Parts: sequence; C-alpha cells; structure tokens
Amino acid sequence: DDVDLAELYDFAVQLAKDAGQLLIDAAEARRQNFNNPTNLQSAEKLNSVDLVTSLDLSLEYFLQTSISTRYPHHAFLGEESYSAGESRQYLVKPESPPTWCIDPLDGTINYLHLFPMVCISISLLVRGVPVIGVINAPLLPSLFSARLGGGAWLNETTPLPLLQPPPPLPQGAPKGCIFSCEWGKDRRDIPSGNLYRKSETFLNMATELGGRGGKGGMAHGIRSLGSAALDLAYTATGAFDIWWEGGCWEWDVAAGVCILREAGGLVTNGAPPEGYAEGPDEPTVEELRLGGRRYLGIRAAGDREGETG
Ligand code: IPD
Repeated sequence: DDVDLAELYDFAVQLAKDAGQLLIDAAEARRQNFNNPTNLQSAEKLNSVDLVTSLDLSLEYFLQTSISTRYPHHAFLGEESYSAGESRQYLVKPESPPTWCIDPLDGTINYLHLFPMVCISISLLVRGVPVIGVINAPLLPSLFSARLGGGAWLNETTPLPLLQPPPPLPQGAPKGCIFSCEWGKDRRDIPSGNLYRKSETFLNMATELGGRGGKGGMAHGIRSLGSAALDLAYTATGAFDIWWEGGCWEWDVAAGVCILREAGGLVTNGAPPEGYAEGPDEPTVEELRLGGRRYLGIRAAGDREGETG
C-alpha cells in the first residue's frame, strides 16, 4: 500500500473535527436535559466503572463508516468494535494492513459527569507503529495532532512542546515534576489488590522514578485526567513531565504516542531506558510498535547547561 501521509493526516484532522461537532451537540443536549434518562444510555461492560454510552457507539459508527468509505482496504480497530477474546498482546501485527486505531470517546466517565476532559482519539498504524495521531477535545476546545516527521501541533498552528527549546527535566527529577497516571478499570481484586498496588506504584514513581538522584525528591504534583489520550497530549505540550499507565489498550494511547514522539518526547512500554534524560539511543522499529498494556511517557527535555549528549 502506498501511504500518502499528508493526505491521510488531512483526512484524520477533518474527521476528528466532524466527530468533535457531534460530541459538542450531544453534550449540549445532555446539559439542557441532564436528568432525562433517555438522553444518554449507558451500560456496564466488565464492571460498574467500565462503561459504554450511546455516544461512544454512535461516534464509533460514524468514524468507522467514514473511514471504510474513504479507505476500503484499510483495517479498523475501535474500542467498541474490538471483540473480546482476541489476543490481548499486539492487536496490530507487523504484517497487518494500515490500521485505523480509534477511541471514539476517551474519558467516557468524564463525559457522564460533564467533566470536559473528553476526546476523540484517531490514529493510523503502519506495521504496528503509529504514524498519524489526532486527539480532539472539543469541550476545551483543543486539537492535538501529529504525523510522522511532521512535528506535533496544538490547534494546527502552535508547535509542541509549548516551551521551545524544552527545558531540561528538573535536576533530581521526579522532584519538581508533574507526574500523571491513570487508574484503569480493573476492579477485580478490590479491596486488597490491584488498586492498592497501583497507588503504591504511583507513589514510588512520583518519588523515585528511575532512581536518578531522586532521593528525597517529591513530585510537584500527581494528576489523573481520566483520559489516557489527554494525559499523553499534555505530556506532549510539556505540562506533564512523566506519564504512566498500566492496563490500557492500543486505542487509548495510539494517537497520543504519535503526538508525544513527534513533540520530541519518549514513550516506552517498559522502564525508561538507562540514560534517557541525556537523550536515549534511536529506538528500533520493534521498540516503536504498540503492544502490551503498560506505557510510560516522558516529555521532550533539553540538555542541562554544561551537559552534552
Ligand atoms: C479509559 C480512560 C482512562 C484509563 C482507561 C481507559 P475510555 O478510556 O483513558 O483514563 O484509565 O485505561 O480505558 O473508556 O474512557 O475510553
């Protein structure tokens, strides 16, 4: 398949804007009649915090039909049309055709509560690597976008990260950092397991990530926006220094990974590579592929004065 990234990118941006208008209209209808239960239907998936609303479904239908009409040979992976039971590892394989990986409404719980951190997240993966990412948060409103080699942008005109050149990570990071993390939806082993382990991990990471001279250093703050895609977008702007989530899926992160990498940040699905703050080695294609359920993102960071590398 010949992939014309510029054309695909323009299509994805317009699609995210069109879907954003549908989200705005739905939110407005909901605001005007918040208590009418027919206004928004929602259902539980795995548990009471894993929800799907009628808006998730109608947005996914809109996105899928628009894409398959324009690009009938491409594959589609969406949060609501993914069939449970498929292998959880590497949903998009190196041999897969170009695959649109989409979360029609990231921040579903936020939407239910009319907390505006909700977005449409659209990405194109080629051989499992995200090459286009568009995140539209129309209630903010903010649109984040990137394509491989084309940089990352806020509202199409402001380059990311916002501070250019980006400042170095604070001396003794995570001291002085904003650390963002998400709680996921796995509640199987409440009250003793998963969530408690997670909070412990967050506290450890916020106080001694990577063990890089962080002894005694506390993060400036810990944030959870309720949308993994928006966490990544704000790591790309430079507002968040470090982001971590365990338990998310390709559609939660695909667009944000592309945007953060194009903004000069680092995303891995493991621990940060040794020496990342001084500039990690060029990652291999294998390392760029999405897969696994844990991701760590670090914002673009410039050199400290007097340091090279
Ligand atoms: C969820 C959000 C949440 C994260 C979950 C995601 P959804 O996506 O991004 O912040 O913790 O792992 O599944 O259900 O709102 O699209």
